[in-house]
Amino acid sequence: MSFDFSREPLQHFQDFLKQAQDAGLSEPTGMALASVGENGKPSVRTVLFKGLYQNGLTFYTNYEGRKGQELLARPQAALSFWWPSLEKQIRIEGVVEKLPRDVSEAYFATRPRLSQIGAWTSQQSKEIPDLESLVVKQKEIEKKFEGKTIPCPPFWGGFVLIPDEIEFWIGRPGRLHERYVYKKLSHGWHTFMRSP
Ligand SMILES: Cc1cc2nc3c(=O)[nH]c(=O)nc-3n(C[C@H](O)[C@H](O)[C@H](O)COP(=O)(O)O)c2cc1C
Repeated sequence: MSFDFSREPLQHFQDFLKQAQDAGLSEPTGMALASVGENGKPSVRTVLFKGLYQNGLTFYTNYEGRKGQELLARPQAALSFWWPSLEKQIRIEGVVEKLPRDVSEAYFATRPRLSQIGAWTSQQSKEIPDLESLVVKQKEIEKKFEGKTIPCPPFWGGFVLIPDEIEFWIGRPGRLHERYVYKKLSHGWHTFMRSP
């Protein structure tokens, strides 16, 4: 029961994540992402963590979908990782910005072709009549790019969330869970524990 506050929080984050990956958990990089809509209405969904970029956490999505629009209009967001069998949780709050275009394009190029087609096919968050209409659109996109490299759609790309608060939660018996917090100050991190 000791936590090294002298380390950077993202080093702890990488250790926790590696533990989850080494444990062979399903979707260890899955994280809940909360955004803020109009009138302060929150919404949350799962996205996949896709690596660190300049001290921030990245994920990819459609910029025109609900989360994309909410994040662009109100760039405050929160993330939560939970790995039940490890009894560990990490909560992260901060500000998001779009990743540079070349970074998004480089990542898009590494995606499986079917996922690339999917990105062009889906007008994320929009109402659709049925699944069939999506399959028809998928076939059209497939045909359009047949034999060609599929470019990154202009409406698709990454965000990076720059943390201003990170909390590491470790479950303990009797609900005396450990909570270790890093809160950003102008000159570094304020570190402290919170009551469970
Ligand atoms: C395990 C898992 C991983 C997901 N990863 C992503 C992702 O990386 N990017 C994404 O846009 N949607 C991802 N989704 C789908 C989102 O949860 C969500 O349904 C979608 O992005 C639409 O959200 P929105 O309408 O709030 O924008 C994932 C869903 C699950 C269950």
